[in-house]
Amino acid sequence: MKAAIFQRPLARRRFLFLMSRLSAALALGALPALAHGAARRVNQLPEDPFYLGVASGDPRADAVVLWTRLDPAVLRRAGLDEDVLQVDYEVAADAGFSRIERAGSIAAAPELGHSAHADVRGLRPDREYFYRWRIGGVASPAGRTRTAAAGAAEVDRFRFAFASCQQYEHGYYTAYRHMAEENFDLIVHLGDYIYERTWGENLVRSHEGPEIHTLAEYRARYETYRSDTDLQAAHASAPWAVTWDDHEVDNNYAAQTAEDEQTQEQLLARRAAGYQAWYEFMPVRLPVGWQGPDMPIHRRLRFGKLLEMNVLDTRQYRDDQACGDGRRPSCAEHMDPSRSLLGQAQKRWLLDGLASADARWNVLAQQIMMAGLRAVGEGGEQLWPMDIWDGYPFERRELLQTLADAGTPNPVVITGDIHTHWAAELKPDFDDPASPVVGSEFVGSSVSSGGDGEDSNDYGTALLANNPHVKFFNAQRGYVANTITPAQWRTDYKVLPRVTVAGAPISIRKSYIVEDGDPRLRED
Ligand SMILES: [Fe+2]
Repeated sequence: MKAAIFQRPLARRRFLFLMSRLSAALALGALPALAHGAARRVNQLPEDPFYLGVASGDPRADAVVLWTRLDPAVLRRAGLDEDVLQVDYEVAADAGFSRIERAGSIAAAPELGHSAHADVRGLRPDREYFYRWRIGGVASPAGRTRTAAAGAAEVDRFRFAFASCQQYEHGYYTAYRHMAEENFDLIVHLGDYIYERTWGENLVRSHEGPEIHTLAEYRARYETYRSDTDLQAAHASAPWAVTWDDHEVDNNYAAQTAEDEQTQEQLLARRAAGYQAWYEFMPVRLPVGWQGPDMPIHRRLRFGKLLEMNVLDTRQYRDDQACGDGRRPSCAEHMDPSRSLLGQAQKRWLLDGLASADARWNVLAQQIMMAGLRAVGEGGEQLWPMDIWDGYPFERRELLQTLADAGTPNPVVITGDIHTHWAAELKPDFDDPASPVVGSEFVGSSVSSGGDGEDSNDYGTALLANNPHVKFFNAQRGYVANTITPAQWRTDYKVLPRVTVAGAPISIRKSYIVEDGDPRLRED
């Protein structure tokens, strides 16, 4: 399978060698020092290679990942595109870079698309930092980032945004321009960062090319999306925590099953390509255990005693959608209690973590709506959306019951995927009015997918009426801003009047508050 990724055996051998060095360096905690001697130092580059800007992510109390990618066209013109290149970074305590606190070098290899990931260690907790890259006498733009508070530290206030679903052709990334201005402590992306294909009408720009399958095609797609300067500004403004949904590979794929007629082997080759491109373009640590189409990315981030975030992957390990996918009446397959969305290993990891969680707020950062969102069919029958948690009701109940039984402090689920804002209360049994509320869910709309959108529509109104635990619906584009203190969680749903014209203003459409110890939603 892996051989399909590489055109030449030599490139594959060098890639595997590099991966083994990366893994060894990771195990030794020495990733930033990787490949000294192996990487070529460039004295002079005639052109600026930092065409996609900079990013940072996955902050820890003493570390953060810095990212950039060197422009392959610039490297080609300089005759450097086949070489492993040394890229230098510096991290400063001030925006003017007068107080450099860390500096080092990493290797950018052609096998990883000359992406650069530096896991910079030795930083101080809960601090703002500024960073930039350098190669051949050219400096990148500077980025702002922030380390997490130490695990046992008190944190008075934490502000983060989350977003998802940015079909490039459907609209401009105005949401990111506004997000960049807020200097968040963290920005979370819940998936559908790219789209593998075109659909819809009224396209305002083109991501060029048909449905993508190969590594070269996924790379080109990420380059197009990342060329957007509003998106670059948001990446440069704060550290990100990123997960994926389906469109990073294929619409509604499930583990090894494609949406359409592709074979398992074809889907796995595509997954290997899509996952590798995702790693190359995202500010994330090298996923431990990555092998071709297998890339474990679920992980925890902790921000002092205030907040712990479980970043989940609900695509890679799931059982195939039941009853033929889409909105369907329940069927025998749907009611099979052994079906899993998380996969057994990730589920165990998550439930164990939630059972022993000790942060004040415990977040599940994930893709698909967890609260029941059933529709009523023309004959009055209940229709279950099979691609989201409604399609996996037994595992959902097990998860929500664990939160109740373990007394996990203040569980909050944050969600993307469905291009609409929602707020909901989570219960182990959504059909039982007496079932207790055990957590809160905030679903964010899309950045651009679906075009301009609207404040409300019949679809949302009908779903609100059929699902009393769901409290809010809005179908405009935007993002979700959250302000967390030990006493209170506040969510502001931010909306744009349009995305098909650039430069729209942003406003708060609705705000909800959750008090410490009471998961019910309060309107503010
Ligand atoms: Fe989407």
